[in-house]
Amino acid sequence: MTEKIDILLEALPYIKQFSGATFVIKYGGAAMEEEKLAKEFAKDIVLLKYVGVDPVIVHGGGPQIEKLLTRLDIPTRFVEGLRVTDEATLDVVEMVLSGLINKKIVQEIHNNGGRALGLSGKDAKLLIAKKVEDKEIGFVGEIAEVNVKVIREISKLGYIPVVAPLAAGADGHTYNVNADTAAGAIAKALMAEKLILLTDVPGVLGKDLKPVSMLKKDEVQALIKNETIRGGMIPKVKCCLDALHGGVKKTHIIDGRVAHALLLEVLTDSGIGTQISGGE
Ligand code: ARG
Repeated sequence: MTEKIDILLEALPYIKQFSGATFVIKYGGAAMEEEKLAKEFAKDIVLLKYVGVDPVIVHGGGPQIEKLLTRLDIPTRFVEGLRVTDEATLDVVEMVLSGLINKKIVQEIHNNGGRALGLSGKDAKLLIAKKVEDKEIGFVGEIAEVNVKVIREISKLGYIPVVAPLAAGADGHTYNVNADTAAGAIAKALMAEKLILLTDVPGVLGKDLKPVSMLKKDEVQALIKNETIRGGMIPKVKCCLDALHGGVKKTHIIDGRVAHALLLEVLTDSGIGTQISGGE
């Protein structure tokens, strides 16, 4: 019993500190695709909302898009390893992200006692994109503008906003945007307390290939320089650095394959992933 009390009391200072704070959470990978983990994630989110945090979810959906493209026999072209998002592909992207996945997340939150409202970046002009010009990859956008007023309002009403990373272009077309980048941009615009990226790795790995618990901005730069941080982790940490630069207080890269990773990271002293914070 004392063990249980210790755990609950360890959470108290964080509940106090984060009550009223905004956490922007990039949701994807195993935590989204595996039914059991998805339920646990929804529970974590609902708990956070009830202790006064305003969670904002931005989700991915790569594998599900892939699956439907295959089922519909829509041919895929790759340029330098990147999928070309032509009109037909974009339709599938929007159907899967905005239709299927977004609503699934909303429903899972409802099933676990919370209230959620799903929207895409196109709604209320939340995300405005411009075409990525340097690569010939079709309707893939970079974020040009973020209008978070609607997110604030949704949170204030007691709902958890769930965002599909699509955006409208100034040219009137729809664009697919990277979910990590979209989460980072929304976190900056909200001046969020935290940006949390759920991944399928234990965190940022150090020289000994073990996850590093805490990093400062300049340590991250050094680890990129000496190639300890490599491959797919580079855009993730850069997204975190950019968010910190834009005024987000702390960023976290955590392992979505671990049950309740989110609560373990934010309501315990040592967390479970990698925390990246500012200079001091
Ligand atoms: N729970 C605290 C917070 O969210 C500390 C997290 C520490 N995390 C870590 N990976 N060392 O601010």
